[in-house]
Amino acid sequence: MRIDVMLTEVTATRYVTPLREGGSLPGIVEADDLGTYVMKFTGAGQGRKTLVAEVVCGQLARRLGLRVPELVTIQLDPVIGLSEPDQEVQELLKASGGLNLGMDFLPGSLGFDPLAYEVDPKEAGKVVWFDAVINNVDRSWRNPNMLVWHGDLWLIDHGATMIWHHNWPGAQASAAKPYDASDHALAPFGPDVAAAAAELAPLVTRELLEEVAADVPDEWLVDEPGFDSTDEVRAAYVSALLPRAATIHERITLGPRSERRPQQPPGWLAERLAPRTHSTEKDSTT
Ligand SMILES: Nc1ncnc2c1ncn2[C@@H]1O[C@H](COP(=O)(O)OP(=O)(O)O)[C@@H](O)[C@H]1O
Ligand SMILES: [Mg+2]
Repeated sequence: MRIDVMLTEVTATRYVTPLREGGSLPGIVEADDLGTYVMKFTGAGQGRKTLVAEVVCGQLARRLGLRVPELVTIQLDPVIGLSEPDQEVQELLKASGGLNLGMDFLPGSLGFDPLAYEVDPKEAGKVVWFDAVINNVDRSWRNPNMLVWHGDLWLIDHGATMIWHHNWPGAQASAAKPYDASDHALAPFGPDVAAAAAELAPLVTRELLEEVAADVPDEWLVDEPGFDSTDEVRAAYVSALLPRAATIHERITLGPRSERRPQQPPGWLAERLAPRTHSTEKDSTT
């Protein structure tokens, strides 16, 4: 996996379509490098901190060897949305001129389905440990925010993490809190969190976190209340994550290995997961 020192910047050339599964209305765009990206908009209701979280957490994951699609920044001229018929989308494009976040679009990927895809305890442990470090509250059964692409598990959507960056004065106390992973989409796979921590925690050094924070564009950090410079804000991310990465494995609640996960999909689902037969007959499920 290639890691750039800074995020590559591209320019959006075409708005293709909105993605309506999530809450933030990301869109698929094409860019001048001929790439196709999932774009997260600076003008979205969740605000620019969602984009900061995507960069900090996504780049941290990639540096630790976890699969996250490549991130770029995307320059948007709202004029490309003028012909967009959807009012909501047009408003979003209008409010998002300038720098936005892009994530490499994984064509043909499927949303993670715990009944159809087996995750080994080692990989599950790494994901749960990583989510504990960043305090991700958005990788649950109902909303796994993982994709399966070419047989591998990919992590997406790190916007709802690092709750402490919404209240910097309380950040140290907040970042010391435990992580409840009992609802995590990978909890039932017997995640080996101890092994993950032993392997990954030593990699999360101050230098690594400083590199990750440096990837965040100034535009999304300026005028943060209580800070004199964007580098001070970057340092605050480092200060919150560094101690948490070192010890959070001692404070992760997993709950018992779940019986909720059937060993194989129920019949009705297995049928749906089977290769398509291109039959035009009505569904004959019994
Ligand atoms: N890199 C990607 N490649 C393919 N599909 C993606 C990618 N990123 C997101 N998606 C699709 O878009 C949906 C919404 O994206 P997500 O990042 O979860 O945004 P939200 O904040 O709206 O939940 C995902 O559930 C997934 O189906
Ligand atoms: Mg999502």
